[in-house]
Amino acid sequence: MATPMRFAAIVLLAILDPAGNRVSLAAEAPDVVQLTLHADRPGPRIEPNIYGQFSEHLGRGIYEGIWVGADSPIPNTKGYRNDVIAALKRIHVPVIRWPGGCFADNYNWRDGIGPRATRPLRLNQLWGGVEETNAFGTHEFLEFAELIGAESYVSVPVGAGTPQSMSDWLEYMLSPSHLTLAQERRRNGRDQPFKVSFVGIGNESWGCGGQMRPEYYADVFRDFASFVRVPAQNPLQIVASGPAGDDYSWMEVMMADAAKLSGPGPGRGMDAISLHYYTLPSGKWAAKGAATGFSEGEWFDTFAQTEAMQVLLAKHSAIMDKYDPAKRIGLFVDEWGTWYDPDKGSNPGFLYQQNTLRDALVAAVNFNIFHAHADRVRMTNIAQMINVLQALILTDKGRMIVTPTYYAFDLYKVFQGAVQLPLDVSPSFYSYRGQQVPRVSASAGRGVDGTVYVGLVNVDPQQIVALDVALDGLKPTSVSGSVLTGALMDVHNTFESPHALEPAKFSGASLNRGHLAVTLPAKSLVVLAVR
Ligand code: AHR
Repeated sequence: MATPMRFAAIVLLAILDPAGNRVSLAAEAPDVVQLTLHADRPGPRIEPNIYGQFSEHLGRGIYEGIWVGADSPIPNTKGYRNDVIAALKRIHVPVIRWPGGCFADNYNWRDGIGPRATRPLRLNQLWGGVEETNAFGTHEFLEFAELIGAESYVSVPVGAGTPQSMSDWLEYMLSPSHLTLAQERRRNGRDQPFKVSFVGIGNESWGCGGQMRPEYYADVFRDFASFVRVPAQNPLQIVASGPAGDDYSWMEVMMADAAKLSGPGPGRGMDAISLHYYTLPSGKWAAKGAATGFSEGEWFDTFAQTEAMQVLLAKHSAIMDKYDPAKRIGLFVDEWGTWYDPDKGSNPGFLYQQNTLRDALVAAVNFNIFHAHADRVRMTNIAQMINVLQALILTDKGRMIVTPTYYAFDLYKVFQGAVQLPLDVSPSFYSYRGQQVPRVSASAGRGVDGTVYVGLVNVDPQQIVALDVALDGLKPTSVSGSVLTGALMDVHNTFESPHALEPAKFSGASLNRGHLAVTLPAKSLVVLAVR
C-alpha cells in the first residue's frame, strides 16, 4: 500500500454561497483522517431503489403535493403539477411506495377507481381528520409513477382487506385478459395492464396495522402471500411487514416462519421484509425536537440517532443470514428519515416540517450506511416525498421549493446502479459534551458510466476535516465534485428565499501521487467524481 500523504495543519477554507457571498467555514484543520478506497475489490450493486420514495395519503403529500386536478390554475399535466414532475424527474426517482403507511391498512381500493365525481367521500381518521375525496386512486398513482419513470410499490391492506380483496385489486391492475375486473379497468380508461413491481402485505402490523404479535402476523402473511397470483408478464416481489427499529424478535420469527412457504401455490414466501426507523433528535415521541432553531446539542443527538441505522442493519442482516445465507430476501428500509415536532401553526396530523442542512447530512449518512449494506438492503423509501416529514419538496399552493434533502438525493443519484467499492475510514470522532459520533461518513462506488464516485459527510458543525484517501487499484487523472454546506446549522430554503442553500462546485479535492487529498468543510456533504 502506498505511503499516506500529510496535509499542512492550517487550511483556510471559504466557499461562495448561492448569493455570491464569501462564507468562511473554519480555519484550522484537525488531524488528517486516513481512508483507503479498494477499487480492486468490487462489492454488490447499489440498487437504484435505495433512492426510493414514500408517498402516503397524509397531509399535503398527495393532494396539493402531487395532485391538483386538471382544472387547477396551478400548471399541471392531467392533474399532476408540472413543477413537481420536473423536480422528481431530475433526481431519477426509481420507485414510489403508496398509499401508506398506516393509511394503507384502512384503504379500500374500490373507493379510488371510476369517475371521480362519484367516488366516495371518506374521513382520513389517521391523519388530521380531513376529508379524503379519493380523487387520487389506483389509476392516478400508477400513471403518476409512469409519468416520472418510477417503479410502483403498492401496499395492500391487511386491516381493511382480505386475501380476496387483494387478489381482486391485483387482477384489476395487472390482468391482460378479458376477465370482469380487467374489463372494469378498461371501462375506467386503461386498456393495457399497469405494471406493479412490489406488493407490501400490510404496514407496521405490530402497530397501526393490527397490533399483531409476530407469530400471528407470520401466519397472516403466509395467508395473503399464497393468494398473490399475478400474470406471467408482471412478476413482482412480495414484501412482508417487518420490524420497528430494534425489534429483533420480530425479524427472527418472520425469518423462521415466513421466509419460505411450502405446498401448492406460489410457495416462495417473502422476497423482502421491511424495516422502519425514524431519526428523532431526542429519541422521544412526546417531544422530538424542532426542525429549525435547534442547538448544537440537538444537532449532535440527531447524528447519534442516525448512527443507529448502522447497528440496526448489521443486526437484522445477521438474523436474516442465519435463515437465508444466499441472501435471496431483501431488507427494504421502506420508511426512514427525520421526524420533528410539527411546524408551529400547521395541522399536527399533517406532519409538516421544515428541512435544513442537517436533514441533507442525515440523508447522506444514511445513504453511506445503505451502500455498506447493499448486499441485503435493496430498497429504501424516505418518509416522505412531498410536504410530509423529511420531504424533498415543499409546496405552498402554487409555489414549490426543493429542500436540502432534495439536493442530497440529487448529488447521490450517481450511485444508482453503481458497484459498491469498499472504503475504510480510520477512526475520527465529533465530540460534544463528553459523547462522540463518527465525524466522517463515507462510501464509494463505480457508477454505471465507469466513473468512481465518493460520497463524504463531515457531521462536525465546527471543524473542517482533512482527508487522505489511498486509491488502491485506481490510477485517476482528474477529480471534480460538488458540495452542500452553509454558514448555519439550520440553513434552509423558504418560499421567500428558495435558493438559500444549493450545491456549489467543490474545489477542495486534489490528486497527488495516487492519493486523493480532500478538505471537507464543517457540516458538509461532498460528492466527488474520480476519473
Ligand atoms: O410516515 C408516517 C407514518 O409513520 C406511517 O404512516 C407509518 O407507517 C409510520 O408509523
